[in-house]
Amino acid sequence: MSKPVGIVTGAGSGIGLAVATHLVSKGYKVVIAEMNAATGSAAAESLGPDAKFIQTDVSSYLAQARLFKEAYEWGGNRLDFCHANAGIDDRQYLYDQNEELDEAGLVKPLNTKSMQVNLEAVIQGLWLFKYYVRRSKEAGGGKGKFVATSSAAGLYMMTTNPQYTSSKYGVVGLTRAAGPVFVKEGITVNCICPGFIPTNLCPPHVLELWPKEHITPLSTATKAIDAFLGDDTMTGQTVELSLDQLYFRQMPEWANDSQKWIGTESLAFWEEAYAKVPQKAGY
Ligand SMILES: NC(=O)c1ccc[n+]([C@@H]2O[C@H](COP(=O)([O-])OP(=O)(O)OC[C@H]3O[C@@H](n4cnc5c(N)ncnc54)[C@H](O)[C@@H]3O)[C@@H](O)[C@H]2O)c1
Repeated sequence: MSKPVGIVTGAGSGIGLAVATHLVSKGYKVVIAEMNAATGSAAAESLGPDAKFIQTDVSSYLAQARLFKEAYEWGGNRLDFCHANAGIDDRQYLYDQNEELDEAGLVKPLNTKSMQVNLEAVIQGLWLFKYYVRRSKEAGGGKGKFVATSSAAGLYMMTTNPQYTSSKYGVVGLTRAAGPVFVKEGITVNCICPGFIPTNLCPPHVLELWPKEHITPLSTATKAIDAFLGDDTMTGQTVELSLDQLYFRQMPEWANDSQKWIGTESLAFWEEAYAKVPQKAGY
């Protein structure tokens, strides 16, 4: 039987590196999908022959599509796990007072790179993941575990990073919407919402000042991964990580029975409505 195969994005550092290391220790073959060539190759080298570095900028769809194909083939036509983890903070402040104008006098767009990396790349990653999981049966796979990294900011907010907050809320929404659907074919979709974990995401001067009692260790992230790996029915879960604890956070309560009916029992209406939408015509 071949080894299970995983992809971890942003695995050159921080949470991704900890998860990749953990997976190798559990007998996985792991692809380190990382934009930074120096940290990505060093991570793969330190983990030995069961790790492979594939330089990838997840914000490029083409780069991710190549990553998944290469990982699947390296794994012996098998893919079992993906942690869509790469993330960045906002590259331009929404509150900026120095907006620039183009030649026509129109305000140039806000830099939304954090949305592309933190949310759009995660959605495309899930799109690619399910394609290869469905084609892994012959090599001994066929069940998949997809984990995304949201943030505590995806449950609360971070006023300094409004786009980051939006992207992380998006990951929570994706998990809750797609998790219950994909599990029907053996693919679980969950996300982690870490509190403060000291990594390279954080500016060094903040790391120095941060109070020790508010630090969540990397081991809480790997604890969550173990919870997902150990349960084929756990899906759609948004797990807040704080200190050494996992908190399984639920959607807000339904406001009333009407909202509950729309949320849980109106599926037949939606299916009928969407069947009539000419989606292929560019909607
Ligand atoms: N550290 C925290 O306190 C914390 C809290 C909540 C959420 N998160 C989330 O955890 C995830 C991992 O961050 P981390 O804290 O380990 O930070 P990190 O900076 O140590 O690691 C992130 C890695 O992602 C890589 N990366 C960035 N853009 C990329 C791209 N376009 N393609 C491929 N790789 C890319 C970086 O090079 C880096 O190696 C992020 O999604 C972050 O938003 C972190």
